[in-house]
Amino acid sequence: MQLPLKCQEKVSRLYAELKQGELSKVQKNLTYKYKNETGESKSLIDSKADSLLYAISRMPATYAVIYTLLSQLLEQGLISGIESVLDVGSGTGAGYFAIKEFDDDTQIALFERDENMIKVFETLTDNEVSVQKLDIVRDRLETKADLVMTSYVLSEMKEQDRLNSVLKLLESANKYLLIIDTGTPRTYENMMTVKRFVQEKGYNVIAPCMSKKCGLKNDYCQFYARVERSALMRQAKQSELSYEDEKYFYLLISKENAEICGKRVIRRPIIKPNNVELMLCSGDGASRENFTKKNKELFKQAKKAKINDLIK
Ligand SMILES: C[S@@+](CC[C@H](N)C(=O)[O-])C[C@H]1O[C@@H](n2cnc3c(N)ncnc32)[C@H](O)[C@@H]1O
Repeated sequence: MQLPLKCQEKVSRLYAELKQGELSKVQKNLTYKYKNETGESKSLIDSKADSLLYAISRMPATYAVIYTLLSQLLEQGLISGIESVLDVGSGTGAGYFAIKEFDDDTQIALFERDENMIKVFETLTDNEVSVQKLDIVRDRLETKADLVMTSYVLSEMKEQDRLNSVLKLLESANKYLLIIDTGTPRTYENMMTVKRFVQEKGYNVIAPCMSKKCGLKNDYCQFYARVERSALMRQAKQSELSYEDEKYFYLLISKENAEICGKRVIRRPIIKPNNVELMLCSGDGASRENFTKKNKELFKQAKKAKINDLIK
């Protein structure tokens, strides 16, 4: 999965705006901030160079996650009838570019706190799309949309800010709120707190969890999307690997009543010639199941299964 070609070309041009030798310094500084200062509601990306680096080295991965996840949720029928989308903490536009790939006519409203991120996004869209300046913690969100999404934003916040923001986002959602974030144990824990919080308020968490309580014990859940690395990304990351698997976790909260059938694949499938082992989340909790040729239909289904798929 790669950014749409037009967007890739524009991102490449941004590289020229970084001063010679600045890339690795900015990369080190940003990595440090994300490791040590996240979860405190601080502005981690707070310079033009940080925003340029974000577009070059992080946006291809966040785009791949959003695109892959939306494809699966649409295919599984968990989201439908989306005419308008609201993306909060829209950054350099990963959500915008992903939504546009599905339907160019969807109305998208973008909200972002940081001026530099807004400027980079405006460059990438030739100033044709505008972003509204908003801090979801401090400001009121007055707009509504069928799908409200926020990606890689909430884990940067303190818990109380995160929960208050989730409530604001839910109030703005006509149908669904989709929260996407990093695939770390810490994010997972934060998201389980969000899950309990919204359930207590009467909302339905319809994915990825298939049960009200988490069935995992002393473990956590993460998904991944494969990202092809461009030459520029390899340079920015100082690595020769041609792809990376971007790990993430998400919560899809629905305002509508939904009965979800099946079991969700929550680990990479282990495929052997005569046996497929899947870790599955169901209404009964999480368990490992083996599929063999004894049941041809199920074996065929299990062989094709990918992480985050729903199977019968
Ligand atoms: C890691 S970036 C993610 C950008 C984009 N959503 C993506 O998936 O690539 C986090 C973004 O959230 C924005 N952000 C953080 N806290 C925010 C807040 N309280 N209100 C609005 N935007 C916020 C940051 O400025 C930054 O652009």
